[in-house]
Amino acid sequence: HNCAVILPQSHPLVDGRTSGSPVVRAFSGHRPERLPVWFMRQAGRSLPEYRAAREGTGMLEACLRPELASEITLQPVRRHGVDAAIFFSDIVVPLRLAGVDVDIEPGVGPVLGAPVRTADDVARLVEAGPLTPELLAPITDGVALTVAELGTTPLLGFAGAPFTLAAYLVEGRPSRDHLAARTLMHADPKTWRALTEWTADVTGAFLRAQVDAGASAVQLFDSWAGSLSRADYVRHAAPASARALTHVTGMGVTVVHFGTGTEHLLTAMRDVGADVVGVDHRTPLDEANRLLGGRTPLQGNIDPALLAAPWPVLEAHVRDVVERGRAAPGHVVNLGHGVPPTTDPAVLTRVVELVHGLGA
Ligand code: CP3
Repeated sequence: HNCAVILPQSHPLVDGRTSGSPVVRAFSGHRPERLPVWFMRQAGRSLPEYRAAREGTGMLEACLRPELASEITLQPVRRHGVDAAIFFSDIVVPLRLAGVDVDIEPGVGPVLGAPVRTADDVARLVEAGPLTPELLAPITDGVALTVAELGTTPLLGFAGAPFTLAAYLVEGRPSRDHLAARTLMHADPKTWRALTEWTADVTGAFLRAQVDAGASAVQLFDSWAGSLSRADYVRHAAPASARALTHVTGMGVTVVHFGTGTEHLLTAMRDVGADVVGVDHRTPLDEANRLLGGRTPLQGNIDPALLAAPWPVLEAHVRDVVERGRAAPGHVVNLGHGVPPTTDPAVLTRVVELVHGLGA
């Protein structure tokens, strides 16, 4: 494995624990014997054991308690037998660690104490400096504890892409069309660039900390990139995403890049430095594979809405997703977006069993 130079000898990709796992193999463009599957937001409100563990603890507080974050990360692996764990955290955690006044309101999402709107606001962030390894200790500790328990199951690290994070910083709370962020990038491109470059280094440091501590692959979430035209994405978002990924390039760790409503951006999202493209439910995988020129492993794309449909309907859909995914050089089955909180966990377990029974 060519990552031995940078990754510690004890890293699961180097010592062989996860290097032959179905997820790592499929991400590298192979067809392992077992078709791998995991779910975005698999750790979360659909699980009663999650709700019990979180009782009385705020979301960000939970993310910063290594034992708790580790326990929550492991819950869906134990229950569903998924092929990967995803570290329990949130895309705004590195912003909080860097000193941004951000919290996660239940049922709402990330909310800023004061939105970042002007050149002065951005200058204050930049002056606060980058995210240091000391500040990232709760993340490093949480990842290390988790990896020690996971054995041959890979842990996926993740981070938010600069555009999606900047959209929260500028809007101050979740928004549908990200109007203030899209205005800023055109009205004051210099300020926008400074903001997304700072954000890229903060989120990149978060990604790097997870890889150093034992993550076997990482996923960059640009959940709201779909609100951009291709031209705006290429000009105002892609450079910062590429910069965030430079924090982990050359380490031998697969980068998955995911967004929603991004059919028009799939090639651009790959070309910022991703190895695998995550596809939402709107684009059939055979179509995504065609758009990407048949050379990029894919992840996706069961429609989360169908998790609540009668089993025969869901089963037919999962079989269709798997069939269409056979066109791609590698396929890791996932949802097209996160697990809805109302999902019956038994349905997720059944999907895992179905996928594993279908064969590569
Ligand atoms: O996937 C996983 O299981 C790992 C953990 C994870 C969370 N958030 C936990 C979480 C990951 C990978 C994320 C990423 C994230 N966070 C994204 C990108 C993925 C996506 O869904 O598009 C975004 C946009 C956020 C911001 C965010 N955080 C939102 C929109 C919300 C939901 C608010 C709500 O209550 O509906 C959160 C909170 C959050 N992050 C929860 C979880 C489990 C729910 C908090 C709770 O249980 O109280």
